[in-house]
Amino acid sequence: MLQKPKGTYDIYNEKAQEILYLKKLITSLMDNYNYSYVQTPIFEARELFHRTVGESTDIVSKETYDFKDRGNRDLTLRPEGTAGVVRCFIENKLYVDANPLKTWYFGPMFRYERPQSGRNREFNQFGVEVFGSLSPMIDAEVISIVYHFFKLLGLKNIKVNINSLGDLDSRNHYRDALLDYFKPYIGQLCDDCQQRYEKNPLRILDCKVDADSDIMKNAPKMSNYLNEESKHHFDEVKKYLDLMEIDYTVNDNLVRGLDYYTHTVFEVTSEIEGFGSGNVLGAGGRYDNLVKNLGGPNTPGVGFAIGIERLLLALEAENINLTKEDGIDVYLFATSEEEKDEMFSLANILRVNGFKTDLDYSLRNFKNNFKHADKLKAKFIIIVGPDEVKTKCLTIKNNETKEEYKVDTKDLIEFFDEKLGDE
Ligand code: HAM
Repeated sequence: MLQKPKGTYDIYNEKAQEILYLKKLITSLMDNYNYSYVQTPIFEARELFHRTVGESTDIVSKETYDFKDRGNRDLTLRPEGTAGVVRCFIENKLYVDANPLKTWYFGPMFRYERPQSGRNREFNQFGVEVFGSLSPMIDAEVISIVYHFFKLLGLKNIKVNINSLGDLDSRNHYRDALLDYFKPYIGQLCDDCQQRYEKNPLRILDCKVDADSDIMKNAPKMSNYLNEESKHHFDEVKKYLDLMEIDYTVNDNLVRGLDYYTHTVFEVTSEIEGFGSGNVLGAGGRYDNLVKNLGGPNTPGVGFAIGIERLLLALEAENINLTKEDGIDVYLFATSEEEKDEMFSLANILRVNGFKTDLDYSLRNFKNNFKHADKLKAKFIIIVGPDEVKTKCLTIKNNETKEEYKVDTKDLIEFFDEKLGDE
C-alpha cells in the first residue's frame, strides 16, 4: 500500500475543522491589525534561502528539500516564509508604498528534520512581515499579535521570551567577545558548537546539548555589548510591551536559528508540563539589513511565524476544543423514488438561500432517516411524500422540540428565515 512520506501527515475530520477555524480567526485578527494577505510560491530559487536564512544555519545546511526542475534550475521547497515575502517585496517594488507595509501569510513549509511530536517535514506557518518602519512600536505590535492570538484561543501556559541582538556594530563586538571567551573551551563543546565557533559563534548560545554547562552560563551577555542606540531601541520595545500589559522574560541566551536578525528577537513557548522539545509555538524578530542584502532598497523589517501543528498540539494539551459541532439546519428525505426530484430541488433552494442542508441520496427507510438526521444534528426535518408533492404544502418537523409545522412550498425560505435567521 502506498503511504504518505515520512514526516508528513493527512488532515481530516476535527483537525481539518480546527485548521479552517484557525484560518478564519487569523483572517479577522489580521483585519483588526490592518495587515494585508500575501501569498508567495512554495518553491523558490535555492540561492534565495542561502542568502537570507544563512549558509551556516541548520535549516540551510541540513534541512532543505532541494531539487532540479526539468529545465535544470536549482530550486528549494521553502523552509520558512520570510525569504519569499522579502523577495516578493523587492521584485514587485512594494517598497514604493511601505510606510509601513504590513503583510501576513499562511501556508506549508518544508524542513528535512527528524520527525517527532511537533516536528514535521511539512508543516504550516501563519506569519507576518512588516516593512519600512524602525519604530519599536512595530516590534511590540508583532509580539502583541502572537500574545493576543494565543490568549484569544484560551492558551494559559505560554511564555514570551525576548532578547536584543542589537545592530550590526553591537553584534560584531559581541561576536568578538564570544570568540575570545569560548576559545579555551572549544574542545569541551559539542561537535556542532565547534563548527558554530567557526561560522556563527552566537549560535553556540542556542545549543541544546551544552545548555546547562557552566561554560555556557558564564558566557558574556549580549546586553553588555549593545550600543546606546540598540539599548534605547530595546528599552522602548519593553516599554510598549509593558503598556500593553504583556508578560515577558528577557532571555540573554535567545539568539534564534536564522541569520537575518538584528535588534529584537523573540520566542513564545508552551510551558505545559511534558509538552516536550518542540515547545516553541511561534518566533520572530527584526531584520533591518535583509532587504538591502537581497538587493532591495535599505528597508527595515520585522515579523514572526507560528507553527500551526504545534499550536494544535498545545491546544490539545490544554484541553481547548476549537470546533463546536454545529449540526445542519435542515435534513430532507423522500418517501419513494417518485418524490426524489422534488426533495432534491427543495434542498437546492434551501442551500442557495444560505441554509446548511443535507438530504437522503439513497432512499433509507423512515427509522434510518431519523437516525441519520440525529447523527447530522439536524435542527429541522422535511419529509417529502406524495401528498406534499401534490398539495405543495410541506410538513416540517423541529427535530429538537418535535413540533410540526405546515408550510406552503413557496413560503419555505420565509419560514426558515424566521426560525433560523438570527443564527
Ligand atoms: P522559525 O523559528 O524557524 O522561524 O519557525 C517558526 C515556527 O515554525 C516555530 O516556532 C515552530 O512553531 C514552527 N516550526 C518550525 N519548524 C517546524 C517543524 N519542523 N515542524 C513543525 N513546526 C515547525 C521562522 O520560520 C521565521 N521565518 C520567523 C520569522 C518571520 N522571523 C521574522 N519573520
